Amino acid sequence: MPDEKKLFKVTIDNITIEVEPGTTILQAARKIGGDVVPPAMCYYSKLKGSGGKCRTCLVRVAAGSTADPRPMPKLVASCRTNVMDGMIVESMTNNAVLDARKAVVEFLLINHPLDCPVCDQAGECDLQDLSYDHGREGTRYEFKRRTFERHNLGPYIQLHMTRCILCFRCVYAADQLTNKRVHGILDRGDHSEIATYIEKSLDNDFIGNVIDVCPVGALTDRTFRFKNRVWFTKPVDAHRNCPKCSGKVRLWMRGDEVLRVTARKDEWGEVEEFICNECRFEKKKGTDWIIEGPTKVARHSVVSAGHYVGVKKPHEALPEVMGGRKPKLVFDIHSVSDVNEAEVDLSLLPGPATSDTFDGNPNAYGNNVTDVKLGKGSNVKGTDSTNPNTP
Ligand code: SF4
Ligand code: FES
Repeated sequence: MPDEKKLFKVTIDNITIEVEPGTTILQAARKIGGDVVPPAMCYYSKLKGSGGKCRTCLVRVAAGSTADPRPMPKLVASCRTNVMDGMIVESMTNNAVLDARKAVVEFLLINHPLDCPVCDQAGECDLQDLSYDHGREGTRYEFKRRTFERHNLGPYIQLHMTRCILCFRCVYAADQLTNKRVHGILDRGDHSEIATYIEKSLDNDFIGNVIDVCPVGALTDRTFRFKNRVWFTKPVDAHRNCPKCSGKVRLWMRGDEVLRVTARKDEWGEVEEFICNECRFEKKKGTDWIIEGPTKVARHSVVSAGHYVGVKKPHEALPEVMGGRKPKLVFDIHSVSDVNEAEVDLSLLPGPATSDTFDGNPNAYGNNVTDVKLGKGSNVKGTDSTNPNTP
């Protein structure tokens, strides 16, 4: 009979589990799940060597092991500390740990701009979530923040170094997924920055994955930038036969438009299988993919705001109390905003509005002044028979 593997007993926030020797505290906590799991900004289980850079995953070891039950003198990085048999760990149950996390968030935000309202990563940014969960309300930093020019790394990726938290994930991803890394962290201390040597662009087949592993909006997809907010899109899982990668992706749709293609991420926000550039950047038609179904989005995620599985609509009480009459318009936003054209009545659209609705795409949903519907006769220019506002 083969020797039975000895398992280590570890207790995290009063929950005990058994794990294999060599497991880190963070991995053990992920096995338990829920609130005891420390946040992680630089560790990435799929990238060898990652972790140990950001200190967001600090925990207190109240007892080192059964053999040596002394507490560890300082808080430790859970992604880099292995469990011992009989170890007792405090994560959410220790105020010193929570204070340290606050301090780490404050530190990460020293140079990171507070530009969430205009950042493409908003809604799926790990730093944004971390600062909501663990951050302070204010900052004590009084000095000038460092800023950088935006930088196009080839045709598909844009680097905005101002937002980078130097987690090293993109460097490991390029190292381990491509055969030629041309970017890295240059310089030291306050001068450190992600950069490519002599403006070399990143053109390897799998380099697009650096966008997915970046926890903030420092590396973004140039084919998607500012096309939409992530919470207005509907993520669906899809696949295709791809000779280069597994072809299993997530499509971020608005109506019938595929706005973005990314790899699928697990509950820890980590990519399940890395995908190639062709799938990510060049297959933007619905017909390129076999749709499997809507992605399961965690309830706490802002992306779930637009999700449509099991939606329960609130009871509409207004028509009842108004005796069937429509409420009076108190304030017409169109008179002060250029965002939507007043002539486009969104409530008349049979499906969700897309940028095309406003741009006059003949196949877009709905009726608006600029749209030119096909198949309804022709006018002088042979395009439109129904819209009096077009020539
Ligand atoms: S660019 Fe993104 S992934 Fe790369 S080090 Fe900076 S924060 Fe990390
Ligand atoms: S996740 Fe552990 S140090 Fe960054």
